[in-house]
Amino acid sequence: MNLLTGQCFMILSALCVVSSSRVLELSDKFIDISNDGMWFVKFYAPWCAHCRRIEPIWAHVAQSLYNSPIKVAKVDCTRFMAVATHFKVRAYPTIMFIKGPYRHEYVGERVKDEMVNYALRMSQPAVQRLSQADSLGYLKETHPVFFGYVGKQQGALWDMFTLHAEKYQPHTWFYAMSHDLLKNDVKIPNETAIFVYKEDEAYFFEANPLLLQDREALNVTLDKWINSERFGLFPKVTRSNINELMDIEKYIVIAIVSENKLNEITQTERDFKDMIESIIKKRKRHLHERFQFGWMGTPELANSIAMSELTVPHLLVLNSTTGHHHMPDDDPVLMTPEAVSIFLDQINNQMAPTYGGNSWPVRFYRGFFEARTTLTNMWRGNPVLTALVFGLPLGFLSLICYSVCCADILDAEEEETPETHEKKD
Ligand SMILES: *[C@@H]1O[C@H](CO)[C@@H](O)[C@H](O)[C@H]1NC(C)=O
Ligand SMILES: *[C@@H]1O[C@H](CO)[C@@H](O)[C@H](O)[C@H]1NC(C)=O
Ligand SMILES: *[C@@H]1O[C@H](CO)[C@@H](O)[C@H](O)[C@H]1NC(C)=O
Repeated sequence: MNLLTGQCFMILSALCVVSSSRVLELSDKFIDISNDGMWFVKFYAPWCAHCRRIEPIWAHVAQSLYNSPIKVAKVDCTRFMAVATHFKVRAYPTIMFIKGPYRHEYVGERVKDEMVNYALRMSQPAVQRLSQADSLGYLKETHPVFFGYVGKQQGALWDMFTLHAEKYQPHTWFYAMSHDLLKNDVKIPNETAIFVYKEDEAYFFEANPLLLQDREALNVTLDKWINSERFGLFPKVTRSNINELMDIEKYIVIAIVSENKLNEITQTERDFKDMIESIIKKRKRHLHERFQFGWMGTPELANSIAMSELTVPHLLVLNSTTGHHHMPDDDPVLMTPEAVSIFLDQINNQMAPTYGGNSWPVRFYRGFFEARTTLTNMWRGNPVLTALVFGLPLGFLSLICYSVCCADILDAEEEETPETHEKKD
């Protein structure tokens, strides 16, 4: 048995070496050469399961970026601890983009396309200038979301745009262009303007003259606006972006489905997910200011928010300011788009029932719920091990309790017996 697993492991690691040939293996010397060029580095430890899981993905990332100036590499931090210390690595795997003194830790989904897009974006200046008319068409096709600046590249609005482009570069794209480039597609409200483009539509940032004179207010308002508009119309919601979504002060409308290992879902789930997506696509002008739509590929996270085992597909709406949530009374599968729209209007008018939140009793109950779920899953996965892990300490505890209690009783009896005898006598 042991021999067999050992062999499997050897074959697997051999495969990894072959497929990750485009990944540079770094050592302590990296500290001296890291200032040279652009690096996309995975800091890992050989024993860490998450590291092994992204090993093949990392090889694909290296393959995709092979013809770019970005060098894709990895460091075994158990062998080269000085590197880990130098780059302040606190967890494995840590994925970092390094460009001279600039470092940024990648926190997005660990999937190939997203990591490649991120690295390519980080290798460019934060604001890229568009000069050809056809590049706009290209942007629309390739970027689900991007921010644009149109007009003279000077003044308060421009300064703030460049400032925030740098801040949000890890998350999204920023472009500057002239009126001529844009005017055929979009009605531009002002001489200079900032907009976000998603799904064939531009939404402009409201910059009234008063705001333009107050740098601080402009700074705060633009920051908030970019942060809340940087998501696509219907992104996948995961553990890695839910906290960012909870920061945008909109209602988060989530279609919950349950993907299998191959990222497939049943037809019913697909119909439901498409139905929810069609609502935001059809009514985006009306809904997008108050509602951020999205979908989840597993009910786990939603279960923990709702504190119950949700059936899939399901619909969950989160109030991102208060942390409360809303759920339809009816079975979500039977809901029509009209029914969902009415439900959303009710939420917006604060007429829908509200559940959960972040008060202490709710947090306590959520903790309890999560612990119970973990235990149940462990039990389903491996009853014997679970029984041992929890049974042994419990057994010891009860033994200790038993002996403590019995000792008490014995002592008490010993003391009491003579008394009672005395009384009887
Ligand atoms: C355009 O400018 C006007 C007046 O300067 C202002 O009231 C309006 O809010 C601006 N619109 C946008 C989208 O910035
Ligand atoms: C804008 O606000 C950020 C904090 O959100 C601050 O760090 C930055 O210095 C401000 N910039 C200007 C130009 O006011
Ligand atoms: C969340 O709930 C609060 C309090 O009921 C409400 O003021 C707010 O508008 C709601 N919606 C969002 C998106 O925060």
